[in-house]
Amino acid sequence: MCGIIGVACGRGAFSKPLGSIIKEALKQLEYRGYDSVGYAVIGESLILRKAAGKLDDVAGKLNFEGVDGFVGMGHTRWATHGSPNDINAHPHSDCTGRIVVAHNGIVQNYLELKEWLIKKGHIFRSETDTEVIPHLIEELKSRGMTTLDALRRTVKTLRGTFAILVLDLDEPNKIFFARYVSPLIIGVGEGVNFIASDIPAFLKHTNRVLVLKDGELGYVSQKTVYVEHVERGVVDVSRRIRIIDWTPSMAMKGGYPHFMLKEIHEQPMALRTTINGFDESLDKAAEMIMEANNVFIAACGTSYHAALVGEYALAKLAGRLAHPFIASEYTKYLNAIDENDLLIAVSQSGETIDTLMAVRKFKGRGARVIAVSNVVDSAIPRDSDLPIYTKAGPEIGVAATKTFTTQVAVLLELSYRLGLKTGRLTKSEYLDLHRELTMVPKVVSSVIRRYEGHCKELGRRLKPITSMYYLSRGVGVPVAMEGALKLKEISYIHAEAYPAGESKHGPIALIERGFPTMFLAFRDEYMEAILGNVMEMKARGAYTIGLVPEDSSKLIEKLDYPLKMPYLTPYAASIVYVVPLQLIAYYASVERGLDPDKPRNLAKTVTVE
Ligand code: G6P
Repeated sequence: MCGIIGVACGRGAFSKPLGSIIKEALKQLEYRGYDSVGYAVIGESLILRKAAGKLDDVAGKLNFEGVDGFVGMGHTRWATHGSPNDINAHPHSDCTGRIVVAHNGIVQNYLELKEWLIKKGHIFRSETDTEVIPHLIEELKSRGMTTLDALRRTVKTLRGTFAILVLDLDEPNKIFFARYVSPLIIGVGEGVNFIASDIPAFLKHTNRVLVLKDGELGYVSQKTVYVEHVERGVVDVSRRIRIIDWTPSMAMKGGYPHFMLKEIHEQPMALRTTINGFDESLDKAAEMIMEANNVFIAACGTSYHAALVGEYALAKLAGRLAHPFIASEYTKYLNAIDENDLLIAVSQSGETIDTLMAVRKFKGRGARVIAVSNVVDSAIPRDSDLPIYTKAGPEIGVAATKTFTTQVAVLLELSYRLGLKTGRLTKSEYLDLHRELTMVPKVVSSVIRRYEGHCKELGRRLKPITSMYYLSRGVGVPVAMEGALKLKEISYIHAEAYPAGESKHGPIALIERGFPTMFLAFRDEYMEAILGNVMEMKARGAYTIGLVPEDSSKLIEKLDYPLKMPYLTPYAASIVYVVPLQLIAYYASVERGLDPDKPRNLAKTVTVE
């Protein structure tokens, strides 16, 4: 986590001071962490300022607007080592204050390095793992190395994950960098170069990007990009520069009060673009699944819920068993994996460390890998045999919305195509399912139009509650899990999802008058059973809310607050039903006076294990 940005611009490249440019970039990176903010700029001298707090709260104190220079860097932190206070904020400097470093990742061997450096006389100020980096560079330079040599040696010494930016007063026109696992992308501009954790940080200035690979290091200056590999020497990157088709406005709020609300509303477009972009890679993926012995699906957070929908559809429609698992638990399967197995890794960012590790370890055992990601060229798709991209556009809100529904769309179409190939679906069944999927963007639009007001009202009603259940059956269970996760992460209301049948085995003990329970009923074999579960909860005083098919009059009659959903198969419904759940969570958060874009303690991309 953490967001870093470096800008090498010379003098007069911008109409505003460099500090303002860095501040704007950090605003786009805040989703990666917002415990503290800091920057360092080289102009007449090296200026370093940092403080705990969110960017908007500390920007005045740090005087971004008042600082100019020709190279600079900024950092927004998600604390790992050391509490989120002013001293632990990045950048960190060496003993002399001439070398400063911003870092995203974790230096695992920092304690032994710190001890060694302290013995050499280095003075540490913070509790962070990062601070060993400027001191190491300082130490190596004192033995006659150049900054680049010292950085190369430092990279070889560090264990862990890192994206590092370094400013050194001895080479004041350059921003040195190194990448291992944590993302780092160069934005190649006209007379100005950028280097950042993510593209939206510099998209306003350039759409020419170069995604750095593991083990690469080098420097950018106003006019130069130099890259080498830590073991293999100079790298010719000229053919790796790509043009990104995201526009800057895609990464801005566009009149919405929050990114999350904007991204919920963007779902029809995101789904349409993703579905229109389906290509032969889905057929290739279906073939890889057919050839595989065992199929696994690894993901974290919201992406895991999409994986569960995929598991359901693969089994039901294609007769193919897949084992979904939470990526951080990957070790349990490793001994059982060989080159006949297949892993599908689902990660919107393509950078989540647990999913990346699962990919690497499975590959290490010879398994093949399919990646489903929203970020072209990010680490997970790059490490996979077959990348498949959702086309949701940049997602900034920490709580995933449009990336979830587009992931589900991809996994459904994959299951449909596999069903056709395996003969479990006839051509006309496939075509009906596919056609329905292409209608989903429109259905999502109409559900938002029809129910946003109701979701707002429900958000208001949920404001005072402390706990809530989400119950469903079949493919509704992962959708319920996603609804509960959304509510929990942005409104801080404790929410749990269960298969409705399981609610009798414990959860029902908590039900008393007014306890809110959300039911999701689909047009499938579970409708009767769900009605039974509604009655059990009502009998104990629960306040029952439900998303139910519009013609399920018995259910509608029994629920305290029914929202009638359009006529759909459970597959398409797994996309549509989640949208009101996102809206309810959003409005509950806003009603509680919280910032749904920046839930406490969370970050959008988790790049530490
Ligand atoms: C974090 C985010 C979640 C996201 C999860 C997995 O926890 O806060 O919104 O679902 O990471 O991220 P990925 O990029 O791998 O889908």
